[in-house]
Amino acid sequence: MSERQPNIRVLIAAKDRAARDHLRQVLTAAGDFVVSGVAVDGLEAVHMAGARKHDVAVVMLDLPIYDGLATTRMIRQYVPAVKGVLVGNGDVGSTLTRQAMLAGASACISTAEIDSALASVIKDICGPPLPPPAPPCRIISVTGGRGGIGKSTVASGLGLCMHQKYPGKAVLLDMYMQFGDISTMMRIAEPKPLSELTTEKIDPELLESYMSEHESGLKVLVAATKIGPLDKLSGDLLESIIHELKKNYRYVVIDLPPLMHEPVLRVVSLCHELLIVANRFEVQTVRDAKKLIDTVAPRYIPWEQIKLIINRVSRHDSLTQSQIEQAIGLNVAALLPNQRNLAGDPMRGNTKLAKALRKLADKLDEETFTLDALAAEER
Ligand SMILES: Nc1ncnc2c1ncn2[C@@H]1O[C@H](COP(=O)(O)OP(=O)(O)OP(=O)(O)O)[C@@H](O)[C@H]1O
Ligand SMILES: [Mg+2]
Repeated sequence: MSERQPNIRVLIAAKDRAARDHLRQVLTAAGDFVVSGVAVDGLEAVHMAGARKHDVAVVMLDLPIYDGLATTRMIRQYVPAVKGVLVGNGDVGSTLTRQAMLAGASACISTAEIDSALASVIKDICGPPLPPPAPPCRIISVTGGRGGIGKSTVASGLGLCMHQKYPGKAVLLDMYMQFGDISTMMRIAEPKPLSELTTEKIDPELLESYMSEHESGLKVLVAATKIGPLDKLSGDLLESIIHELKKNYRYVVIDLPPLMHEPVLRVVSLCHELLIVANRFEVQTVRDAKKLIDTVAPRYIPWEQIKLIINRVSRHDSLTQSQIEQAIGLNVAALLPNQRNLAGDPMRGNTKLAKALRKLADKLDEETFTLDALAAEER
């Protein structure tokens, strides 16, 4: 047995008694509706909208005092829970429809359509609420202007932290087509590389079949295990992979080579965060970081989405934080200490580096904007 839809409460606003009676009659005959208020002019309609609970206001265009457009605009502004249907006299053209939408009406129909369309239009407007969206997914890429500065260390550390926060909902992607080192760092014996994909049609099962698992359960994808052409994975393919991952994961952390070619730039343009790793002991890493940022921002990613990470910090460093910030034009988002005897993944043990990476992961996670945050802000 189908569940009966609760009655929809409708406020009617029409200047002529005949029009009011007609609207009431049509709605009553259709069932599912209760006429919860009747107004004879715009002023009355606006006050009635706020005084009692209504779901929809059906407002005729030719109302006295405030016309239908002004009335709709005021109801939507002052009582936004009440949706609006504007009924135009005679033909409703595109100009009136546009004006009605600008005034905040959900629909605009003509008097000639009252009998045939009003009830169904209101039912459409008051349909069941949409299911909540899937949780958001953040794409975080880690790169830097130089080799050996800790890109893979930071990427794998963040991947592990995000997996700890959201078990099974983080993926670490090694995008190096040549000399990728994530699988060694994560002790993954024989990963199946994405370079072996024979189709550009990506689906979840196919992608899962290319995933390896770190001992913690973190999912790992690697672009290549043998040295291959840099553009073996096209920008289109990488984009499809990222879109597919976004459907099922909360975080995709990418170890991204600092190559300014189409596939990498395409990934940069899909990132929510681009973390640039540099250090405080080699001026050249700062210069390279600056060149890299100037190449990608703001063309491929806005400045606000780039974060500067200083790695291997020690008290012997020759540069100060403010010198780096001035040279690059960005504030440092995290200082990661130089960790003695670091081998393998950086989250092993409760080291200072592991703590600093966890703090960075927390910071990135806190900045993720969700609908829940919006609802909390409105409360
Ligand atoms: N904070 C740190 N403290 C101590 N050692 C570190 C730190 N970060 C990275 N290292 C070490 O530095 C070396 C290079 O790090 P990593 O492989 O992460 O750099 P990379 O930028 O990914 O290098 P490549 O350009 O070759 O891919 C590794 O041996 C790593 O263990
Ligand atoms: Mg690396």
